Amino acid sequence: MEQVQKNDSACVCEPDECDTFKFMAKRLGMRVLHPGGLEATEILAKRCGISEDMTILDAGCGRGSTSTFLAKRFGCKVIGVDVDHNLLMKANCSVQKENLTHKVAFRYADIQNLPFQDGTFDGAIIQATLIFTEKSKALQMITKKVRKNGFIGVIELAWKSNPAKEIVQKVSDVLCKSSASTECHDDWINLLNQAGLAVISAEFRDLDFNFQNMLRNEGILSTSKVALKSIYDKSTRRKIIQVVNLFKETKNYLGYGIYICRKR
Ligand SMILES: C[S@@+](CC[C@H](N)C(=O)[O-])C[C@H]1O[C@@H](n2cnc3c(N)ncnc32)[C@H](O)[C@@H]1O
Repeated sequence: MEQVQKNDSACVCEPDECDTFKFMAKRLGMRVLHPGGLEATEILAKRCGISEDMTILDAGCGRGSTSTFLAKRFGCKVIGVDVDHNLLMKANCSVQKENLTHKVAFRYADIQNLPFQDGTFDGAIIQATLIFTEKSKALQMITKKVRKNGFIGVIELAWKSNPAKEIVQKVSDVLCKSSASTECHDDWINLLNQAGLAVISAEFRDLDFNFQNMLRNEGILSTSKVALKSIYDKSTRRKIIQVVNLFKETKNYLGYGIYICRKR
């Protein structure tokens, strides 16, 4: 796998301090780490018009769950990139297990500095990753790597409207600083426009953390493991309760956006 310079802005939170996404991926072994889960991904993919003949960039692919999902569900080719070696190794393992190596490949790369020729991809998917980067820089870089009239589909946490300071602080403390520095729904639309994209659709949704969604995203085995960990491990249980409570407390402020854009 290719080595690229790791950018300091890539992951601002350390696992034991506050980054709930790392906790979910590394401590709980969860595979789907974006709001809305694979249900939202499927909506995104359909709105983007993903088809079999396309090659898609999964920017910030994590454990590669979206990359394999897209290849299986839509038949497209996918290249996933991430700056976490450990997650990329897991992504590679699952692609081999699922016999999808002819469709899906992973590379170590920073989405702010992508090692591909301009216009390589028919489209790009970005889910819960822009918040960890310099958003405009990453968006401009990804846009460059997509062909003219190609699409960019984004799912990110979003504020309904400007949140009060206490709410921002709570999200920063419980989820992570990067989550708290996400944009208001309207500001995401502005950022996408500024990156030279035409925003075709933008939908704000409430966060919905429930057991059924988790089963669909993680499968029965992984969901059972999380349930067992939360029963037997006190600190895991405490963290899960904190996150569930946070979503309840901030439900009038924090949600997520599904944004579909075309490169002009
Ligand atoms: C919350 S996870 C989302 C993973 C995946 N997109 C998903 O939906 O399950 C954020 C991912 O972004 C990756 N990431 C953060 N900064 C990055 C960067 N500059 N370039 C590439 N990946 C990055 C992290 O390593 C992590 O895997």
